Amino acid sequence: MSSTIDPFADLKTRQREMWASFAPTATFTTPVAAHLVEFAEIKHGETVLDVGTGTGVVAITAARAGALATGLDLTPALLDVARENARIAKLANTQWLEGDAESLPFPDGHFDVVVSQFGHIFAPRPEVAVAEMRRVLKPGGRIAFATWPPEHFVGRLFSFVAKNSPPPPPGAAPPPQWGSPDIVAERLGDKFEAPFFSRGVMQFPALSLSHYREFMERSVGPMQKLIEASANEPERLAALRAGFETLAAPYYFGNMIRQEYLLTRAKAR
Ligand SMILES: C[S@@+](CC[C@H](N)C(=O)[O-])C[C@H]1O[C@@H](n2cnc3c(N)ncnc32)[C@H](O)[C@@H]1O
Repeated sequence: MSSTIDPFADLKTRQREMWASFAPTATFTTPVAAHLVEFAEIKHGETVLDVGTGTGVVAITAARAGALATGLDLTPALLDVARENARIAKLANTQWLEGDAESLPFPDGHFDVVVSQFGHIFAPRPEVAVAEMRRVLKPGGRIAFATWPPEHFVGRLFSFVAKNSPPPPPGAAPPPQWGSPDIVAERLGDKFEAPFFSRGVMQFPALSLSHYREFMERSVGPMQKLIEASANEPERLAALRAGFETLAAPYYFGNMIRQEYLLTRAKAR
């Protein structure tokens, strides 16, 4: 918890607005949530914090396994969906809070497990997010997260969007750096024991590459913002759309886009 002025407040305001349309995409992150909860070895009765919970897919999966789950996110519109998801799943053992991965609103040593699925990677200062996630863990607690490797599709898509967008504020770390095991190990540093890694593939059904692109333009903030910014430039728009489909094509077969992710688990020292 920090009370100093946040140099990345504007970036976070943009993130909050950018992710508000994400709910339809959670259909595809739902199976990954089951993988992450199993990988994190979440047990009945454990207290679990899901950072960047979105519509709550990981927190709800953890709560269904008997955990006392808290979902935290910057974006209130997604937390409304998470609350509704918890109601539908008839779960009383969940709570939902608006907040920032870089300033977690919890006391020290509060949780058995901190998880994040494609969430904490958007915090601009990895060292601040890691310190916060470690601070709220009990001694011997564990952290587990899913991230996008830079050399696979989503990592390359982030580079494509970054290359065609205004630069981020100085000092903001690119999210796909969290997909490199060496960088993850360095960032967890001496706050955690050596991390254990695994991998998986998120499958995204699509009837054609254009169906996939249109979905991404509507529901995945960074892609949506890129397209909106070019709405009045037909040639640039056509080039961006063609570039996106060229990038996605090698990952599209059997009517599925295949997005490889990295899983990391580590025990707090
Ligand atoms: C790609 S979505 C993932 C959502 C969810 N974990 C899932 O797998 O479906 C990224 C989420 O991170 C949240 N987010 C971005 N920056 C954040 C920050 N600094 N602190 C907390 N949440 C953040 C966004 O609001 C969004 O809900």
